Amino acid sequence: MPQNEQRYMRVALKLARQASRRMSSRPLVGAVAVTGGRAAGHGYSGADGKNPAALAALERAGSLAEGSTLYTNAEPCSDTDDTAQSLLRIIAMRPKRVVIGALAPWFPLPGVANGAIERLRSAGIAIDIGLMEKECREFNAVYYKYAETGLPFVTLKFAASLDGRIATATGDSQWISSKSSLRLAHQLRRDHDAVLVGIGTVLSDNPRLTVRLVEGASPLRVVVDSRLSIPLTAGVLSNGLAAGTLVATTSQADPARIEELKKLGVDILVLPAKAIRGNDPDSRRRSPADDPPGRAVDLSALLVTLGERGIASILVEGGSGIITSLLAERRADRLVAAIAPKIIGRGLAAIGDLGIERLSDAITFASVKTRKLGPDMIFDGRFDRSPAIAAIGPLVPDQTMK
Ligand SMILES: NC(=O)c1ccc[n+]([C@@H]2O[C@H](COP(=O)([O-])OP(=O)(O)OC[C@H]3O[C@@H](n4cnc5c(N)ncnc54)[C@H](OP(=O)(O)O)[C@@H]3O)[C@@H](O)[C@H]2O)c1
Repeated sequence: MPQNEQRYMRVALKLARQASRRMSSRPLVGAVAVTGGRAAGHGYSGADGKNPAALAALERAGSLAEGSTLYTNAEPCSDTDDTAQSLLRIIAMRPKRVVIGALAPWFPLPGVANGAIERLRSAGIAIDIGLMEKECREFNAVYYKYAETGLPFVTLKFAASLDGRIATATGDSQWISSKSSLRLAHQLRRDHDAVLVGIGTVLSDNPRLTVRLVEGASPLRVVVDSRLSIPLTAGVLSNGLAAGTLVATTSQADPARIEELKKLGVDILVLPAKAIRGNDPDSRRRSPADDPPGRAVDLSALLVTLGERGIASILVEGGSGIITSLLAERRADRLVAAIAPKIIGRGLAAIGDLGIERLSDAITFASVKTRKLGPDMIFDGRFDRSPAIAAIGPLVPDQTMK
């Protein structure tokens, strides 16, 4: 592909960055209309998903739209009455050619054919697909994963010391990283459909899991709690937050407790229990006698259910137990770690036992970005989907419990 074509696709991707982030079940789309070697109009998709980027770019180009080449990272959609109307308006503006980065599978509208490409082609508009396809897919990674699998995109996030601890041996974790990293954590919350923690984190840190340090709406709060140990006074259930909180539990939960929580407005999801490695009883909370080890929420079942409920992206904020389980089950897509220039020594490791004995089996990353944020180093990596990860396999096979 000619260099200047790539340049226009990069402009489209830059524009797409301005589209609303909280439409993760739709791709973020940018478009630029080019006439006579000049960018004549720019556009990006609106928060309601009704105002396609391509139409916005052509409308801005005005009289220059006719005969233009339109560059867009994903094709315009035509799956609803509104978007079909917009497509007709795009066709009426008579662009000569549309260059598309990556085709978008239009989940979650099964049975609804998008059909935009065919309609554009039959109107005599030339279509080229695949310019910078890898970059365009990576840009909308959340959308593509959800559209193609029905499962949410899972981002793991923690703040750790240089020696990989997320808390001291006494459980003190506030705050390992700097204020700037905390702000990044709130940005990440805002940009995901749900934020998830384990009951261990609720009991030790009592977080609210809301967006406060940046503008934007708070996502759904999810707590993973096999036996419903969550106190009714927990931060995620107080001050009007109960109604936006889902607690994923198992049949080990006391039915009376389920009713109490439901009365508060909490959404309770009873899922199968699964045997997991290293789900050691938390000695601070329970005696080993009443804590048969290894019976925990089946996180794969949780992800399937959240996906069915329209949750396309989840930010997992810890703690160590939940992060370890998700890594062990190869359910994570991205890791964002704020590494603080501190050494703790004995303490809680960010990631527990994964059963990896050879370095060649270590979990690796397909791509990594690092940057400095205040005193911290931000590691942002996409997990590799190589056979090395697949080799980890289920931790305790064939012991799934209902
Ligand atoms: N620095 C950071 O970024 C950061 C962030 C968060 C937390 N933390 C620290 O991490 C510590 C909490 O971590 P944690 O490991 O004790 O608790 P956790 O990961 O928050 O929760 C673990 C608990 O979740 C429940 N659970 C249910 N299903 C599970 C599954 N499939 N896999 C794993 N756990 C499952 C288990 O309790 P049940 O069996 O009772 O259900 C398990 O003990 C605290 O000290 C906190 O301060 C640090």
